[in-house]
Amino acid sequence: MDLTYATYLKLDQLLDLQAPRSQPPEHDEMLFIIVHQAYELWFKLQLHEFEKIKQDFVNNRLYGAIATFKRTRTIMKTMVEQVDIVETLTPMSFSSFRDRLENASGFQSVQFRELEFLLGYKRPQMLRYVQPESPAYQRLVTRLHERSVVDCFYDFLEQHGVTIPAELRARDITLPTVPNETVAAGLLELYKNEPDLEILFELMTDFDEGFQEWRYRHIKLVERTIGSKRGTGGSLGVEFLKKSLFLPVFPDLWAIRHKL
Ligand code: HEM
Repeated sequence: MDLTYATYLKLDQLLDLQAPRSQPPEHDEMLFIIVHQAYELWFKLQLHEFEKIKQDFVNNRLYGAIATFKRTRTIMKTMVEQVDIVETLTPMSFSSFRDRLENASGFQSVQFRELEFLLGYKRPQMLRYVQPESPAYQRLVTRLHERSVVDCFYDFLEQHGVTIPAELRARDITLPTVPNETVAAGLLELYKNEPDLEILFELMTDFDEGFQEWRYRHIKLVERTIGSKRGTGGSLGVEFLKKSLFLPVFPDLWAIRHKL
């Protein structure tokens, strides 16, 4: 049989994956399912793109990194905008099917956690919420022990003359990224003297800001939909989410802005 639009995209399978649980049916549950599935697809693409960025950094491919950061920050903007759609769900409408979610929560999104780990925001304690021995758990453990985008960014900077302190190189890579003054000083020099690198750094900052925007929009979404209730994942809800708010992926890029 010839390849068609539907067979190439496996649409029969894809469109069969939305299974609302409410009985009698609740109109808005379909939106809730589709929007989360759409986010999971964006997470998948972000992971794919950041794997490439890591290779671009290691191999000093500036234009490759620029092109892909342009893409990741544009996807991130779309991810932020999608929150508008979820906000058409009113608190009462969400309550009408919230029980059907039982303990399911975005908290358990393994791809989101993978993305955090890949970017360098490593919180090993988050593994507690994933079923041990499952393939997802294994994926997450692998990400935890792999070098992050920031570790690979150091390789890139080194190839452009920045000194990367030995203690940064020798650090335990299962821990989150830490700001570093020597790296920041090196970045400042490049920012001032290398216009093509400045383009890359601005795109990285765009992405970073976008990720923080997503966290902010998600918190406000949660606040307006469930207020101070606990999350279905069992956390304190808004209070838990606020801990990661304003946390940069590339702290050294933010540390120097007043000197530019
Ligand atoms: C009515 C809409 C939503 C509500 C009420 C809600 C609520 C929450 C709450 C309360 C948490 C904290 C963890 C817990 O459950 O205890 C959480 C975490 C999370 N949610 Fe949502 N959420 C909503 C929509 C979304 C959407 C559309 C996404 C997109 C994928 C999403 C992704 C996440 C992620 C990734 C986390 C973990 C965040 C982190 O660990 O920093 N949520 N959500």
